[in-house]
Amino acid sequence: MIIAIDGPAGAGKGEIAKLIDERLNFTRIDTGAMYRAVTLKMIRNDISLDDEEGIKELLENTNIELRKKNGNLLILLDGEDVSKLIRTPEVSNLVSPVSSIKQIRIKMVDLQRNMKNIAENIVMEGRDITTIVFPDADVKIYLTADVEERAKRRYKEMCEADMKVTYEEVLENIEARDKNDMQKEMGALKITEDAIVVDNTNMSIEETFETINKIIEERR
Ligand code: DC
Repeated sequence: MIIAIDGPAGAGKGEIAKLIDERLNFTRIDTGAMYRAVTLKMIRNDISLDDEEGIKELLENTNIELRKKNGNLLILLDGEDVSKLIRTPEVSNLVSPVSSIKQIRIKMVDLQRNMKNIAENIVMEGRDITTIVFPDADVKIYLTADVEERAKRRYKEMCEADMKVTYEEVLENIEARDKNDMQKEMGALKITEDAIVVDNTNMSIEETFETINKIIEERR
């Protein structure tokens, strides 16, 4: 069974995918982490957004892997655990434009489609999973919440991870990413006709999980 979840930053897609993984025995795939890993490598190698040749070469020589360890999902970039490094403001500010580059999207979508075979039950979350990667997924959810609420959640997470940011900076980043993610030429964030919209502005993660679990049970 494939569960596809799309939605804007801070809607709780990662937390919900983690609960579906732990409680319903699914393998979770965080596609945002994959775009973040590519972004980190572009920063490290000083490759600019318009350097088509540089990006082509980078994609040919990059290995991205997701691995579960002690319940946490690790992202490995060429074998190095970059799970923390991909969450810095530097990466967050650049990831949306990086993910707008067509050749990067083509490569990531290809990798994601191939991940279908790693387990019988997978839950994949991102921006274009219900629309492009798995339009025929068994369950298609669009998870969202008001932008201020989403910024509040991300700000809290970042403070807990000792990152030095202000609430205003986080809100600004999320608003900019929402705008860019929704206007992308390829893989734009949008609601498909057959996706079920869950707005969790006033729900806890537990309530959100219960709502989504009911939808899953109906499809099983
Ligand atoms: O889920 P996230 O906030 O970690 O995602 C980071 C960025 O990656 C997001 O701003 C847009 C991009 N992204 C994408 O374009 N397509 C996906 N399937 C997942 C993420």
